[in-house]
Order: sequence, then C-alpha cells, then structure tokens
Amino acid sequence: MIRLDKYMAMCGLGTRSEVKRYIRQGLVCVNDVQVRCDDVKIDEEKDRVLFESQPLNFKKNVYVVINKPKNCICTTDEEEDGTIITDYLDEFMRARKLFPVGRLDADSEGLLILTDDGDFCHNVITPKKHIPKTYYVEFVGMLSDKEIQKLMKGVKIGDYTTLPSKVRRLGEQKLEITIHEGKYHQIKLMLEAIGNRVTYLKRIKIGNFGLPEMLMPGEYRELSSDELQQILCKENI
Ligand code: URA
Repeated sequence: MIRLDKYMAMCGLGTRSEVKRYIRQGLVCVNDVQVRCDDVKIDEEKDRVLFESQPLNFKKNVYVVINKPKNCICTTDEEEDGTIITDYLDEFMRARKLFPVGRLDADSEGLLILTDDGDFCHNVITPKKHIPKTYYVEFVGMLSDKEIQKLMKGVKIGDYTTLPSKVRRLGEQKLEITIHEGKYHQIKLMLEAIGNRVTYLKRIKIGNFGLPEMLMPGEYRELSSDELQQILCKENI
C-alpha cells in the first residue's frame, strides 16, 4: 500500500506538492470515487486511479540503462561538485530517485544501470551472484602472456586478491576483461598490480546485456523485462 500523492508522483504526474494540489482540486478518482485527501492508501495491484478521467500507469520500479559519459560522477548527491549522473535524467526519472547499480569512476565510460529497486541492485553487484561485468580497456606499453595469465588467475590489490577473471586481447594495447566483483578502481588496480596503467576504460556488458550501440554518451532509456533477465544472467556469451 502506498499513499495516493506518492503513487501519483511515481506515475510521473509531478512533484508531491503538485499532485497534492491536483487531489485537492478534485481531479483524481480512486475506484470511481472522487478523492480530495492525499493520504488515502492505494493498493498498487488492485486499485484503479484516474487523473482527469485517464487511468494512470504505475510502475513499482524503474530500470534505466545510461551510457555514462566521461567527467561525470556516479552519485545522487546533489551537493557534489561537477556533473553527476542524475543530471542527465528528465524530471520524471529524477522524481523516482534512481541510484546507480555499482559505480564507474568519473573518468570511466559506458554501461551503467540506474534503478530504484534495491534488491535488483544488490543482486547485480554482489560477487555471490556471479554476474559478470565486462570492460574494454586500453593501457600503456606491452603486456606479456605471463602478465595476462596473472590477471586471469587473480592479483593482489591492497590486501585483497581478485577472483579469477576472463581476459581477451583485442590489440597491442587493448583488452577485454570480465570480472564478477566490483572493488573500488578494480580494473585500474589490477593493471597496476602487474606494473601497467589503464589509459581508457569503458564498461560494455553486464551479465549478458551489452551497452546498446544506439545510446550516445549521456543518453538513456528504460530497460525491458527481457533485458533485465539478460543483466541477471550468470554467463556472458
Ligand atoms: N574498475 C575501475 O578501475 N574503474 C571503474 O570505473 C570500473 C572498474
């Protein structure tokens, strides 16, 4: 059950104070009865809410894929200096108070999921669920086969040893790395652990869901339920 004003704000009709005004103006009906009181409780599964005689489309949770641009911080804290990821969202999405599913560094780019579903977020980021995250990596100098083997086996970053990862050479200074965990600066620190340095980092896949090619940096769209299943897939193919 959820308060009527919150329900309407979650449907994208405006801020809590705007929707309270609509309710007081008599523009809202619940199960064919006009209501003027914003603390009426709504059963999201059963109740039928009309605004100016039109049924509302309620989504319990929202899931968005955004192509995170460089120089943007993965936070919802509006006090933070500089551009934050929610600056790219429209008013409706901002009202939903979405948060990032795992972080990308300010200078990293690519696939980022935003949601208001805490359970989904936990399931994607916890190493216990083994959801793979794949990164395209550019680095300086050369990496020998032995160094690549080390990355795959696990390297020490601080006092933590990384879990086995998949590494694919894409070119002289280009790799694809798939990990199942998300330690702070993990890919950069893994390369540092073998005496190298990342110069460019982009997340390209989570689970079996790849960053949509049509999505330019800063652009986002909602995910379908099929895509959510692809994200939760333990194998990336
Ligand atoms: N690893 C990093 O070092 N940075 C990121 O943004 C993501 C993974």
